[in-house]
This record gives sequence, structure tokens and C-alpha cells, in this order.
Amino acid sequence: MLSDKSFPVVEATLPLVGSRIGDITPKFYARLFAAHPELLDGLFSRSNQRSGNQQQALAGSIAAFASHLVNNPDTLPETVLSRIAHRHASLGITEPQYQVVYEHLFAAIAEDLAEVITPEIAEAWTEVYWLMADALIKLEKGLYAAQANTKMWTPWKVAAKTPAGTGSMTFTLEPADDTPITAALPGQYVSVKVTLPDGLRQVRQYSLSGDAGTSRSFTTKLDDGGEVSPVLHSNVEVGDVLEISNPYGEITLKEGDGPVVLASAGIGCTPTASILRSLAESGSDRQVLVLHAESTLDSWALRSQMTDDVERLDGADLQLWLEEPQPGANAGFMTLREVDLPANASLYLCGPLPFMKNIRNEAINAGIPATKIHYEVFGPDIWLAS
Ligand SMILES: Cc1cc2nc3c(=O)[nH]c(=O)nc-3n(C[C@H](O)[C@H](O)[C@H](O)COP(=O)(O)OP(=O)(O)OC[C@H]3O[C@@H](n4cnc5c(N)ncnc54)[C@H](O)[C@@H]3O)c2cc1C
Ligand code: HEM
Repeated sequence: MLSDKSFPVVEATLPLVGSRIGDITPKFYARLFAAHPELLDGLFSRSNQRSGNQQQALAGSIAAFASHLVNNPDTLPETVLSRIAHRHASLGITEPQYQVVYEHLFAAIAEDLAEVITPEIAEAWTEVYWLMADALIKLEKGLYAAQANTKMWTPWKVAAKTPAGTGSMTFTLEPADDTPITAALPGQYVSVKVTLPDGLRQVRQYSLSGDAGTSRSFTTKLDDGGEVSPVLHSNVEVGDVLEISNPYGEITLKEGDGPVVLASAGIGCTPTASILRSLAESGSDRQVLVLHAESTLDSWALRSQMTDDVERLDGADLQLWLEEPQPGANAGFMTLREVDLPANASLYLCGPLPFMKNIRNEAINAGIPATKIHYEVFGPDIWLAS
């Protein structure tokens, strides 16, 4: 909770900082990387910096956090914090790094707001920063402590590399040492670290796409303009060893016996396929509705796995949308308007942002409460900032 002294200052300066935060974060990252160029080697994504997505995600999260503190003084925005903490933990962020970020962020704020900032404003926003940082540090400590080992990276050997629909590839891994393995929950992801042809190391997250538990398999879609997926597709072969993080991610199947709706588009089917697999493996009698959208049938990366798992479950149904019309599939983009949504369902969503925004809106209109809608974004979460 903000102190009585800072509350009115943050409340009064929220519109000002909110309107400037989009300019402050690029200045912050420029300062951070000038002082610590090593943070771009194996930690921050070079592409997210170039595209500006990470700047937007950071700006959006700070603005959302500060307005939450003002509008709901007695609580913290758990969902926002949890997502960031899982992402941070998958990258091995440490407590002392928060002081480094603080120094460069506040130097950028002082530079950007030079004409209006007072010591009182700086102090109030310092309080906002440390409330957020302390909450994240606490969550991240808990996430690290819940792992079966204390290592950030462990070696896993590629046991199989299997084409999965046009443009996608499934990597099945086996442990390459005897580090104890954390059991992953269905829907979680791992970070994968690779060395690029220019020698820079880069990390990306990949949802586990098959069995969870102590198995590790993930499915990547090739992004021709990207840095990591082309290396995985073209340079990584069976027998090679990849560095993998422990599993993280808060979009996991919630316990219960209510109906589950899994809605995905394109490569967004990976976490939902893993959730579906766990339901099939446990012989669940929950009602399960699988909704998937693709451009063509051939590009559906986990088609046979998902159709097999739907077959295995008495209570499961599948509906497909294809941009290219095909018998047995709906034509065009997915819409919930013609779907008979089960009452009291929980909805798990993954796919491009416009897809998720649309389906989430339709689900809310159809009576699913926002608290029962869970979504995974395959990149920095710029939903908050948009
Ligand atoms: C929690 C989570 C789970 C994920 N799970 C999966 C999964 O299961 N399967 C999967 O395939 N992916 C998944 N992803 C996405 C994955 O992490 C990568 O983002 C994806 O593989 C692309 O990485 P890349 O290195 O190939 O591309 P990047 O190097 O990250 O590039 C991404 C895009 O940015 C573009 N870009 C680069 N520079 C600029 C610029 N200046 N302006 C505009 N655009 C630019 C590139 O052209 C490219 O199209 C997940 C992501 C998250 C966060
Ligand atoms: C209060 C302080 C911080 C806030 C509010 C914050 C916020 C965020 C947000 C919103 C994301 C995107 C998460 C997502 O949508 O998946 C993110 C990712 C990230 N954060 Fe932080 N963060 C903070 C501190 C730190 C620190 C101390 C470090 C370590 C140097 C750090 C390193 C990273 C990295 C490497 C990523 C992934 C970015 C990428 O590769 O594109 N963050 N953070």
C-alpha cells in the first residue's frame, strides 16, 4: 500500500507519468544497456528491443500497477505481477538486479521529466517502484524455491526432432545430466537458450506441447525474420544438447470438475494441447470443448495429437476454423457466436493478440466471467499497454 504522503502525489502525477512512460522506457533501456551491455547476451531479447515490444510491456505494467495502487489501495494486481514473476524466474532474474534497474529507470525519469520533477514526485514514484519490485522479488523467490534444483540452466539432449505441420517442428528432449527435474504443470513453458551465428546468446520461451511432468517436448513455429526459431529449425539436430530452464508459467489447468474450453489459433495450440493431453492421460470426465483456428489443415502443428486426445475423452468435442474452407471445418476466423458454450466453463486462450481480444470479448458477452478466462501471450504482454 502507498504511504499517506505518496498517495496524493502519485494520484496527481499519474496522468503525467502515464503520458510520458512510453518515452521514458526507451531512454531507460538505452541507459541500462550502455552501462550493462552484457544484459543483452543471454538475458534480454534483441528482437523485442528492436521492435519496441518490451519497452511497451514494461511501460504498460508500471502504468497499470500505479493506477491499481491508486484505485484499489488495499490490494496488489496479482495477475499482472504473477505473469511478470514467472517470466522473470524463467530468465533467472535476481534481487540485486532490481537496484540496477531502479537506478537507470529513475535516471531516465529524471531526464524525461526534467522540467517538472520535484524531489517529492521522485520520492513518491520511488515508492511505487519498490512496492512493485518487492512484490516481484517475493514471488520470484517463491518460484525459485519450488523447483527441484537450484540451477538456472540444465542440459537436455534432443532425442527427436519431428516436423509438426507446415513450418513447425517438435523437439523431444531427454535429460543430459542427473539434475533433479521439476514436474511441470500442463500449460507451462521453459526458456531455451541458444547461441546465434554471430555468437550472441538469446533466450526464448516455449510452452511444453506434449506430456507435462518430467517430460520435456516443445513445438516451435519457424519465424523467418526471427533470431532463435531459425537456429532451432536449421542448426539444432538430434543428439545436440540444449540449455533449458525449469518450467514456469501461471496459465495452467485449474483444479475442479467444471467444463473446460480450450481456444487456440495457430501455434497457440501448444499450451492448450498440453492441457488437453493431461486431461486425456488422467481419463478426466470433465466436459472439454476444444476450439482451434488455423490458416490451412496442413499448418495445424499438433493436429494428430489433439484429435487423438479428443477421441480418448468421452466428454470432449472439437471445432475447427480454417481460413481455407474445408468440409467438416468452419470457414474463416473463429467466433464464439455459433458455439454452444457450456455453462460455468473456464476458458484457456492462446494465439495472436487480436484473436485473443476478440474471443475474450465474445466469451464475456456470452456470460463467462473475466476471472475464468486465462490467456497466454507468446511475447511481451503488450495487451496491458494497448
Ligand atoms: C510464454 C511463452 C510461450 C511461448 N510458446 C511458444 C511455443 O510453444 N511455440 C512457438 O513457436 N513459440 C512460442 N513462443 C514464442 C517464442 O518464444 C518466440 O517468440 C518465437 O519462437 C520467435 O522467436 P525468434 O527468436 O525466432 O524471433 P524474434 O527474434 O524474437 O523475432 C520475432 C519477430 O520480431 C520481428 N522483429 C525483429 N526486429 C524487429 C523490428 N525492428 N521491428 C519489428 N519487428 C521486428 C522479427 O522479424 C520476427 O518476426 C512463446 C513465447 C512465450 C512468451
Ligand atoms: C519493478 C521492476 C520491473 C518491472 C515492473 C518489470 C516488468 C517486466 C515486464 C512487464 C516484462 C514482460 C513480461 C511479459 O509480458 O511476459 C518483463 C520482462 C523482462 N524483464 Fe522485467 N521488470 C522489472 C525488473 C526487471 C529486472 C530487475 C530485470 C533484470 C535485469 C528484468 C529483466 C527482464 C527481462 C530480461 C525480461 C524479458 C524481456 C525480453 O526478453 O524481451 N526486469 N519485465
